[in-house]
Amino acid sequence: MKLWGGRFTKETNQLVHNFNESLSFDQKFYKEDIEGSIAHVTMLAAQGIISNEDKFAIIGGLNSIKDDIENGTLEIGPGHEDIHSFVEANLIERIGDAGKRLHTGRSRNDQVALDMKLYTRNQVAEMDELLKDLLKVIHRIMAENLDTYMPGFTHLQKAQPITLAHHFGAYFEMFKRDRSRLSDIYDRMNYSPIGSGALAGTTYPLDRELTASLLGFTGATLNSMDSVSDRDYLIEFLSAMATIMMHLSRFSEEIIIWNTNEYRFVNIDDSYSTGSSIMPQKKNPDIAELVRGKTGRVYGALISLLTTMKGLPLAYNKDMQDDKEFTFDAIDTTKGCIKLFTGMIETMTFNKDNMEASAKNGFTNATDAADYLVKKNVPFRDAHGIVGQLVLFCESKGIALDDMTLEEYKAISPVFEEDIYEAISLKTCVEKRLTIGAPGKTAMEQVVKINEEYLNK
Ligand code: ARG
Repeated sequence: MKLWGGRFTKETNQLVHNFNESLSFDQKFYKEDIEGSIAHVTMLAAQGIISNEDKFAIIGGLNSIKDDIENGTLEIGPGHEDIHSFVEANLIERIGDAGKRLHTGRSRNDQVALDMKLYTRNQVAEMDELLKDLLKVIHRIMAENLDTYMPGFTHLQKAQPITLAHHFGAYFEMFKRDRSRLSDIYDRMNYSPIGSGALAGTTYPLDRELTASLLGFTGATLNSMDSVSDRDYLIEFLSAMATIMMHLSRFSEEIIIWNTNEYRFVNIDDSYSTGSSIMPQKKNPDIAELVRGKTGRVYGALISLLTTMKGLPLAYNKDMQDDKEFTFDAIDTTKGCIKLFTGMIETMTFNKDNMEASAKNGFTNATDAADYLVKKNVPFRDAHGIVGQLVLFCESKGIALDDMTLEEYKAISPVFEEDIYEAISLKTCVEKRLTIGAPGKTAMEQVVKINEEYLNK
């Protein structure tokens, strides 16, 4: 059934119908469509625009449609243009004339703006919960690994020793910022567009604040043209999801590297890895690779909507119908990736000995050897040069700084004494780094505590 057959004399061409319809994807928010309609008719009755009798009939009908969709007796079949037409036609079939009053003082333009907002608002909240679950796992791993030494990298070259807690702590901060972005988006988007009509409001005495509060919005939007054509909140949400995916992708990349035969820092649990059909020895990090790969889809959705919107004059244009499929896909993809990634790191184990050995043999204590000389009054630039000579010497012999004899040290600089060994031990290198944000244990303990309070909020 069409909502607009009156002024037409011909049937719609089938291809046009197929091209135009959105039911195949906007049925995703049938619940929000019904929820919005119930709030709308409640307000219409409160304002005396429809009778209470009609209101009750409409609400009863809408609830029965929702129940029937959910228990499988009502199939959202093709033939209708969109979810709004489907619900309205079904309502009229069920309750007759009262159903024809549902659309009083409303347009599909403000209706779809409302439905999409309600759907997205729930998704923002759900995504926040998933990120919180991920943060809890990261936090647990941090708390358990304050003494797990590993190399920290720059340019993917061993740089200075850190701990596993410190490395995971970096991702804790990223996902914490992601949650804060979601919370900002939620607050900014939480204004109700319903009652804006097609673009210029309506002549009915609608109480937009009432509808807004019935639906849990902070208030009503203040410009009806903007209300029906604003998709900023979707762009912001897509941008936040793109950032979440970028973080997950970087983390995945590290896990893929740590899982290589060369590194062997981690073991991905059997339940989160897959094998090869030809090479029996293989255990592949497919989940991490898929998360890294799917990041592109979410970026694509953001660019797609930005491009769709960039040339649109006010107010509603049908182009905007195309905001949905990519956004739904981005939401499902991002939620799926957060969940899978959380499960993967939750079950992953760490080869602490390999991590520590790797930190030991990459000259990650070279900066500390230079700092040792500085403490003995050697200017830093000279100290840098002296340690460079030590590294050259060690490389020629295939040993670490810790393996040099005191005579060998003294041959390069007489300033070295027995206490050099203590000064460049892995433990000292990490534990001396105690400014807040650094990997030293007491500094990290403070951060772990702050993060724990944050998670308990
Ligand atoms: N399916 C449409 C969309 O998603 C609903 C709004 C239709 N409005 C209109 N004037 N044709 O944008």
